[in-house]
Amino acid sequence: MLAQWKRTIGAACLGLAGVVWLGGCPSARSPAISPEARARAESVWRERCISCHGAFGRGDGLGSRFLGVAPRDFGHPGWQATVTDDRIARVIVDGGAVVGLSPLMPGNADLQSEPEVVAALVEAIRAMGREPAPR
Ligand code: HEC
Repeated sequence: MLAQWKRTIGAACLGLAGVVWLGGCPSARSPAISPEARARAESVWRERCISCHGAFGRGDGLGSRFLGVAPRDFGHPGWQATVTDDRIARVIVDGGAVVGLSPLMPGNADLQSEPEVVAALVEAIRAMGREPAPR
């Protein structure tokens, strides 16, 4: 019952967040990240990530079918449980190849100087593991 209620709230929260941005749910937020950094991370996600990872990080972006290596579903509980924030951040900044993943996951060297934006992206990817994907 409680779990079901939580799911309902999660889904409603996603709907309210305007479909695209999962960091919009208060439960997923860290006070250390400024609203500006979150806003910037949101546009980075839209402009640079959705094409491959899909709006909800399910690995179903339009580009994903041409990659050969499918980006994983960020909602997968097993992956969320084992991956560290540091590793997620490293892949975002330095690209997949540095951790032995596909070089098709591009680096974003310019974000090296914007650690708060990277933290906001990590936070959003974490939120994708907590909230159910909308149907
Ligand atoms: C050109 C397509 C493409 C774009 C654009 C892209 N990615 Fe990826 N990404 C991939 C692929 C493919 C993988 C999986 C690589 C593998 O499993 O070998 C991946 C893997 C990842 C991983 C690591 C998952 C793991 O297995 O540990 C993270 C985190 C990630 N991407 C985040 C992002 C973020 C954030 C952005 C935008 C800043 C982004 N990606 C942009 C294709 C892309």
